[in-house]
Amino acid sequence: MADITTDVLVIGTGPAGSATAALLSTYGVENMVINRYRWLANTPRAHITNQRTMEVLRDLGTEVEKEAYLFATEQDLMGENIFCTSLAGEEIGRLKTWGKHPLSRAEHQLSSPSFMNDLPQTFMEPLLFKTACSRGTQARMSTEYLSHEQDAEGVTTTCRDRLTGRNITIRSKYLVGADGGNSRVAEHAGLEFEGKMGVGGSMNILFKADLSKYVAHRPSVLYWVLQPGSNVGGIGMGLVRMVRPWNEWLIVWGYDINEPEPEVDEAFATKVARDLVGDPELEIDLQSVSTWTVNNMYATTMSNGRVFCMGDATHRHPPSNGLGSNTSIQDGFNLAWKLSMVLKGQAGPKLLASYQDERAPVAKQIVTRANQSIEEFGPIFEALGLLESIDPVKMQQNMDARCDDTPEAERQREAVRKAIASKVYEFDAHGVEMNHRYKSDAVLMDGQSEPPFDKDPELHYQPTTFPGARLPHAWVFADDGSKVSTLDLAGKGSFAVLTGIGGQGWVDAAAEVGEEFGIEIAAHVIGPRQQWHDFTGDWARAREVRDSGVILTRPDQHVAWRRDTIAEDPAAELRRVLKTVLDR
Ligand code: FDA
Repeated sequence: MADITTDVLVIGTGPAGSATAALLSTYGVENMVINRYRWLANTPRAHITNQRTMEVLRDLGTEVEKEAYLFATEQDLMGENIFCTSLAGEEIGRLKTWGKHPLSRAEHQLSSPSFMNDLPQTFMEPLLFKTACSRGTQARMSTEYLSHEQDAEGVTTTCRDRLTGRNITIRSKYLVGADGGNSRVAEHAGLEFEGKMGVGGSMNILFKADLSKYVAHRPSVLYWVLQPGSNVGGIGMGLVRMVRPWNEWLIVWGYDINEPEPEVDEAFATKVARDLVGDPELEIDLQSVSTWTVNNMYATTMSNGRVFCMGDATHRHPPSNGLGSNTSIQDGFNLAWKLSMVLKGQAGPKLLASYQDERAPVAKQIVTRANQSIEEFGPIFEALGLLESIDPVKMQQNMDARCDDTPEAERQREAVRKAIASKVYEFDAHGVEMNHRYKSDAVLMDGQSEPPFDKDPELHYQPTTFPGARLPHAWVFADDGSKVSTLDLAGKGSFAVLTGIGGQGWVDAAAEVGEEFGIEIAAHVIGPRQQWHDFTGDWARAREVRDSGVILTRPDQHVAWRRDTIAEDPAAELRRVLKTVLDR
């Protein structure tokens, strides 16, 4: 007999676990979340919060989204990505990033009702955790996962209560392993992985110091410092990362993974900070020092029976592209509604298999992209002549050579500009963030062929209502002039149909089939004198079906199915589709 029972036990209160718990509670699913520590993230860790993640927070409630903005550094202060010899020294070049370039900003604004921002994990985790607990999640801190066993009906998990030292057992119908990069749940569940852990070493130096005079005129979250001859670290490049503008900072400095972990004391940390800032007198208020390894590993299986893993437990990669906590939260958005519907008897268990089919490709994509982004610093070093020699004097001479009035120097300047511009794949990869198109049994394509990408799919988001894609955003208007995003019409734990004039049959079908299946299917008609107005025509241009056609969305705002025009028997069509999607 277990000590405690719940429907879903979530291991870990990081971005993945807290988001999943918050979503489950919002959907009315009994759940418990545990963390082996007594509190949440104690260092800032992930910051970059992309539009898709903000849409998840918006789906949790506009108050959740608004609170995130309240604590975040706004997008306008994020994007003058600087390459320099020190903050006080020479600037080599810069790149407008994270939607700062006007063309990129336009794409951001057209894509989503939500804004990219910079929200340290020390703010994101409490927000998600508070949302979870205030909506019904039972949280047990200082409780460490030890092992689990599953059978046909559920999972029995053994944990250690670290306050008493006693073991407890928790019986749940499902277990979610959101226990980070060293996931024991993933290991015990026998998940399969590809790639390698520990391909590089890095240290984080967190400190407070007012650096406004070096940065406020070129606001950015990232300042890359190339320093030939630095006597610490491998490649002579360090990152000065804004935590709070402009008085809290994180320095990321590499170390040789083949050597023992360096001892980072206050004197060492101060020296690194002084070198990178370029101020030998700089006084820092050191907050913490930690080391971490660069990983290149992703799960090819993300579940085993009643056990599901997510977040860093399944994708382990460097912070490049800022995808860590974003992808973790989005994993939760994919799984939570499926668990909810299966637990409520609204869907068959096969729906849960779609979690792995849909998210494992994302795990592979982001791990590959983040590691490739590290490699793509190479051309900058090469163009500056930093790879030709390890002699600091020679390295400096090579860098200086680009200022000469010679054809070679002109070529070098061109190469430096090109190399910096190519970093857009790390710092403004909007497509990587937004282009997820799921392929699984929870999506019905009905023989339609996938639209190809017109532009580079890593850099540019391409809206489409092709089944599996995220519903495109367009503003639509109510009679009182207020506006909502089409994404606001979807989600919130429900399926939804979006149709236009001539599509009343879909509205009736949603009511009829919803009742039959015991699920809510929201229905929205968009068009002149309808429930929602498309004054700008943006929705008509985005929807890719005719007025009487339909887009059926899932609770995670991805398109489950679409049809170009009204069907002879809309209820029969909707029934057919939902039987497949929900494994009924
Ligand atoms: P996460 O690791 O956040 O959470 C795991 C949770 O599980 C924690 O609550 C932990 O206590 C708990 N747990 C683990 N084992 C347990 C057990 N046996 N029993 C009970 N609880 C257990 N990313 C990025 O994009 N940019 C960045 O700058 C950084 N920087 C960074 C620095 C450092 C020091 C770290 C450790 C990580 C980063 N990251 C990062 C990565 C980013 O933080 C990461 O992608 C997300 O936190 C992943 O969220 P998860 O919820 O999956 O795991």
